[in-house]
Amino acid sequence: MDYNLNGKTFLITGITDKASLALPVAKHILSLGGRLVCTALGLTDHHDNLSDKAKEYLTKTYNDFKVAVNEELGSSVITYPLDVTLDGSITDFGKALHKDGIQLDGYLHSIAMDKTIRAGVVKPLIEVTREEFMGAMDVSAYSLISLSRALLESSVLKKGSSIAAFSYLGAEKIVVHPYKNIGVAKAALERIVFELAFELGKSHQIRVNAIRFSPYTASKAGGAIQGLGEAVAYCNEASPLGNALPNDLALEAVYLLCHAGRITGEIRHVDGGYHIRG
Ligand SMILES: NC(=O)c1ccc[n+]([C@@H]2O[C@H](COP(=O)([O-])OP(=O)(O)OC[C@H]3O[C@@H](n4cnc5c(N)ncnc54)[C@H](O)[C@@H]3O)[C@@H](O)[C@H]2O)c1
Repeated sequence: MDYNLNGKTFLITGITDKASLALPVAKHILSLGGRLVCTALGLTDHHDNLSDKAKEYLTKTYNDFKVAVNEELGSSVITYPLDVTLDGSITDFGKALHKDGIQLDGYLHSIAMDKTIRAGVVKPLIEVTREEFMGAMDVSAYSLISLSRALLESSVLKKGSSIAAFSYLGAEKIVVHPYKNIGVAKAALERIVFELAFELGKSHQIRVNAIRFSPYTASKAGGAIQGLGEAVAYCNEASPLGNALPNDLALEAVYLLCHAGRITGEIRHVDGGYHIRG
């Protein structure tokens, strides 16, 4: 890929560890000369009344992220903690970027969470509580709105920049493994992509797109989903090209984030063509 990203800065969310799908995107941007800001779930000033266990979890999550970033991307990468369930954390993050003089040419939304997926079991939708439903929506879908707004309000997301979000075929169809509650949140995420593509295109010439990727078990989010291992094998066999790899996803994400064309409001598939199957 021969884009030159010298002088351009991109925000990458959603790196948990070396297996996170956001990591190869970050690597590609660096290899093309771009600068990176990376965020991860971590303890912030806005976390009140947390148990010691929850504090320990957030601290460990952020430390693991810092290790992965240092080892895989180098120490020059700028990092911030960000919890998208907390408005204060999101607005503080935008303000911090502004204060540090950082302007973004785009950002990757690679964030999802669903508490109905536990110990390798996915709860039937009929049993999902209001809190579980809202929680998955909040983290996996609404965060695309709230983060975009904070970055615009703090004047760090440039005019003409680009936003890309990671999605899955389960947003639209019943897939070969249970996806359920998170599928509903992914459907909302994709609808939000359309709405923001229209609004932000008109107001700021900002492009907004999503990419549906093949099932992938190596990451924490993927590894938790019931039956995903079997789905990986099934989709690999059923798709014309076999499952797409994280590197294929990264190439498309970088194309959408960095290409200067007028592509917006797209839901792309990087899945070896699996989506054309009936
Ligand atoms: N693994 C797959 O099979 C697959 C397939 C298609 C799309 N995706 C999507 O790709 C994206 C990345 O997933 P992944 O497979 O790399 O797993 P991952 O676990 O590495 O990434 C999920 C990220 O969401 C972050 N997150 C969760 N709650 C958060 C919060 N409150 N605030 C901030 N961040 C929060 C986690 O910290 C983590 O970094 C997700 O949107 C996922 O749905 C995954």
